[in-house]
Amino acid sequence: MKYFAVITILLISLALVLTNFVFTKKDTDTAEIPGSEFSETVTVSETAATEPEEDENIDNKWAMFLVNKNNPLPKDYDNMIETEVVFESWREYYLDVRAADYLERMIDDAKEDGVDLLVVSAYRTIEYQQQNFDNSVQDRMDNRGMSYDDAYADTLAEVALPGESEHNAGLALDIMCEEYQSMDDDGFENTDAFRWLDEHAAEYGFILRYPKGKQDVTGIIYEPWHYRFVGLYYANEIKKSGLCLEEYFEEQGWLDENGKAIKMRGPFEEQEKKQEETSTVSTAATEPKETMPKMPYSEQQVSIIV
Ligand code: DAL
Ligand code: ZN
Repeated sequence: MKYFAVITILLISLALVLTNFVFTKKDTDTAEIPGSEFSETVTVSETAATEPEEDENIDNKWAMFLVNKNNPLPKDYDNMIETEVVFESWREYYLDVRAADYLERMIDDAKEDGVDLLVVSAYRTIEYQQQNFDNSVQDRMDNRGMSYDDAYADTLAEVALPGESEHNAGLALDIMCEEYQSMDDDGFENTDAFRWLDEHAAEYGFILRYPKGKQDVTGIIYEPWHYRFVGLYYANEIKKSGLCLEEYFEEQGWLDENGKAIKMRGPFEEQEKKQEETSTVSTAATEPKETMPKMPYSEQQVSIIV
């Protein structure tokens, strides 16, 4: 009888331990993001209990915001960012300083793999974007016999309006390679440079921003050369999801019915915070930052960069 009681107690204890083991689900899993020194162990939340804005495990949250026709940059965004030279060829190319190291590392690592990436466009001033846009419209009228309205509509699918371009945010790059530099078609996707980027860009926080088959959503043609910095965590999540940035925002519930971001609003949140601060503390007018030397358009080597 005594033995029976001891065995019963042991069996009950074992059952309790096993139950706890089987039904206790970890809230978080850790995932290793590849990418040499940029490797970071990030916590992938299964319960999404933490809002992304507050999740300490997500890197570079400042970079995760939408820039498109529904989400134009704040008017003075040029003065809110600091840019630095990230690439030099016949001219210097600039990027937001906070993303610069990621790009430099990506270019170096690609080179080690025998792939020379060529930056052909990066940060653009609002004026530069306007010139690109105007030239594109003019080119369509002059060389393709289009009416102004058709040329304008056609251009809109390739060149964002000033303030609606990620290039104006200092977070986008057009990357090509010596052997293929045409933006008239998507032939760049058949190069080793594209294949390398397609495989590795997310390891450095960059996404292919206008993927194939997503024009209905992005409003922009497939651009195998256009990469956008969103940070390591989101670049990997977005790549895994197969969604474009607009779709990812929508899936997360971060968009209103007009496609305007209601979460992860980046510079808008910063602007609001600053407005709150300045409404209580009086500050002297800030000098605009020197971001990129203004270059006469005649000195630019190519007339249209999309
Ligand atoms: N080509 C992209 C849409 C831009 O102009 O930003
Ligand atoms: Zn671009």
